[in-house]
Amino acid sequence: MSEMNRVTVDLGDRTYSVVVGHGTVAETASLLPEKSKRVAVVTQSGIPASLIPHFPNHQVTIHEIGIGEEHKSLTTIAALCSAFAQSGLTRNDVVVGVGGGMVTDIAGFAAASYHRGIPVVHVATSLLAMIDAAVGGKTGVNIPEGKNLVGAYWQPHGVICDLDALESLPAREMRCGLGEMAKYHFIARENLDELPFAQRVARSIEIKAEIVAADEREGGVRALLNYGHTLAHAIEIETNFAMAHGEAVALGLLFAAHLGHVMGRITSERVDEHYRVVNEVYGIDLVMPSGLVADRLIDAMGRDKKALESITFILDSAEGLEIVPGVRESDIRTALTEFVGRLTPRV
Ligand SMILES: NC(=O)c1ccc[n+]([C@@H]2O[C@H](COP(=O)([O-])OP(=O)(O)OC[C@H]3O[C@@H](n4cnc5c(N)ncnc54)[C@H](O)[C@@H]3O)[C@@H](O)[C@H]2O)c1
Repeated sequence: MSEMNRVTVDLGDRTYSVVVGHGTVAETASLLPEKSKRVAVVTQSGIPASLIPHFPNHQVTIHEIGIGEEHKSLTTIAALCSAFAQSGLTRNDVVVGVGGGMVTDIAGFAAASYHRGIPVVHVATSLLAMIDAAVGGKTGVNIPEGKNLVGAYWQPHGVICDLDALESLPAREMRCGLGEMAKYHFIARENLDELPFAQRVARSIEIKAEIVAADEREGGVRALLNYGHTLAHAIEIETNFAMAHGEAVALGLLFAAHLGHVMGRITSERVDEHYRVVNEVYGIDLVMPSGLVADRLIDAMGRDKKALESITFILDSAEGLEIVPGVRESDIRTALTEFVGRLTPRV
């Protein structure tokens, strides 16, 4: 195995390690709770078999869930919990989620619920799961009334990020992960692009780990992880999820920069830095999906469940990101016009 990075998520007696590097899936067994005898692996059919860890000292059952957000449901949780019970899984045993963010959210919530909570270890196989979904303890499922509306905070016992997984990850999924990765440049105010990729993944996880350790249940600073997400959620809703989350976040970061500039919080050079990171460092060169109307986007942004009162944004400033409630609609409109104008492809 090449160089391995170990990031600690510091949560007192629930502290855990995130192991990052090539070939780290071989480390998974070492993260299991000592007393565990059975492992329930939760995964999907598209995940390469080479990413399913071996557990020579455990009794292993494999549970495949469906692909696509419509399977991120309470029905899937119920089916998994029944299967766990039928395989004799006890509260001393362990669930291992092997997959992208959908699998880790489902495996995490099933583990949080089964026997009122049993340990879970995640093997994150998408970039988004590595740098975001698998770390931090948010788990959950969708209901018809909204995405991720039912869930629990349930910290994993350990997380594996095997960078070899990224070789089979579809290009669009990789781009989505890169869209999320771009936000860490602005959260930490660091030139993460100076780091080799493996270290950049580890540093992104470390940034998230520090925020989670400071504010596990999103009472304050954890909201900064939503930089770029207010417009992103509106775009996802207004495109009926045709634009993927990570792509929408990339656009949301650029819009947030324009809004920060319109409100006099950041310089035009700082706006340019957002474009440099998104377009040049991560090669994400998207335009706004056609047919999106400012009025509807603003309406959708106001309905975002993360908006605290009126329209709240996470915005940049010379001192770093801040939570800014009560943003004026006129500023949002001006920023949207500037943003869409700058994105228009040159002919
Ligand atoms: N809990 C959190 O804090 C948090 C944060 C962000 C996102 N999420 C959730 O994460 C989900 C999105 O996660 P995602 O972007 O990883 O998508 P995903 O889990 O749906 O995976 C996308 C596709 O890639 C496939 N895939 C994953 N890894 C692969 C690999 N190595 N090789 C080949 N195929 C692979 C999957 O099977 C799937 O078809 C959403 O449900 C979102 O709500 C949760």
